[in-house]
Amino acid sequence: MLILGIDTSCDDTGVGVVELTDAGQVRVRANRVWSQAIHATYGGVMPELASREHVERIDAVLEDALNEAGVRVADLGAVAATNGPGLMGALLVGLSYGKGLAQGLSVPFYAAHHLEGHIYAAASEADLRAPYLALVVSGGHTHLFDVPREGAYVLVGATRDDAAGEAFDKVARLCGLGYPGGPAISAAAERGNPDAVPLKEPLQGQSGFEFSFSGLKTAALLATQRGVNPEDLAASFERTVVRSLVKTTVRAAEHHGRRTVVVSGGVAANRALRAAFAATGLNVVFPGKGLNTDNGAMIALAGAAAIRAGRAPSDLSAGATAYAP
Ligand code: KG4
Ligand code: ZN
Repeated sequence: MLILGIDTSCDDTGVGVVELTDAGQVRVRANRVWSQAIHATYGGVMPELASREHVERIDAVLEDALNEAGVRVADLGAVAATNGPGLMGALLVGLSYGKGLAQGLSVPFYAAHHLEGHIYAAASEADLRAPYLALVVSGGHTHLFDVPREGAYVLVGATRDDAAGEAFDKVARLCGLGYPGGPAISAAAERGNPDAVPLKEPLQGQSGFEFSFSGLKTAALLATQRGVNPEDLAASFERTVVRSLVKTTVRAAEHHGRRTVVVSGGVAANRALRAAFAATGLNVVFPGKGLNTDNGAMIALAGAAAIRAGRAPSDLSAGATAYAP
């Protein structure tokens, strides 16, 4: 069965195609993302402009995805689309489009939670089966979930303030590096000396599993005011964020008795983070290339998991939710 996935939760128009075999194996057949450049001039995402651009682009992105998969729209057996959380207007574009397509084709429709999509992005790399622990680290989230069984998500910890990706973006701006900040910090960090600008690891000694990055951001601001080398600051910042994420996740995995850990979301593309997790000895699964940041294939993978688990299709009357806990 071929499942189409659509994500228009923020400023990327993502459409992907996933194949679900009778044996329950999944394979990503296509993953096309149109990243809206229009927001760069404003230094942040402009919600109304995002919605309009989704409307303008979604037909072309769908066509690209179908071409990449080598299939026709009539071959689709199900459609999945993100219904939250995200920007309301932006979400509605992909959600309405997906529902319309499903109804026109007379195939089942599955509404997917954006974070569930990020987690299932890892199913492109391994046969992902509960139980496992999942760390979602993106521009909007730093959330640690225990997944005791398929489709059940128990929040174990989250950030108290900024998301990790948001901190990367803000510190990149302080260092005079480009946007998005994650890849820019990562590249600068390779040339810097992390010991030159000591930064305190957040929430050291906590018994819980929370994160906090706003203090690091302030420390980075003070460091730039002292005139430190931006590459040294980038290296120290990256190392400190990575240590915090890895240590807390490893403690949570031990506490919940989980051996498998999914690390996903935009920040999961970070090389230093991947290397540090690989050294933990846990079975760490990352999404494949192009599946870390927002995309449609991850939503198709979440749809495939719902179908595989025998979940009923979603009601076409269900709306979008900007804030979906
Ligand atoms: O998942 P995503 O595309 O969007 C949200 O749902 O938020 O994540 C985008 C975030 C941005 O903050 C970006 O700076 C960060 O992911 N990011 C990275 C890297 N690539 C993207 N952070 C650290 N290292 C990277 N290589
Ligand atoms: Zn996301």
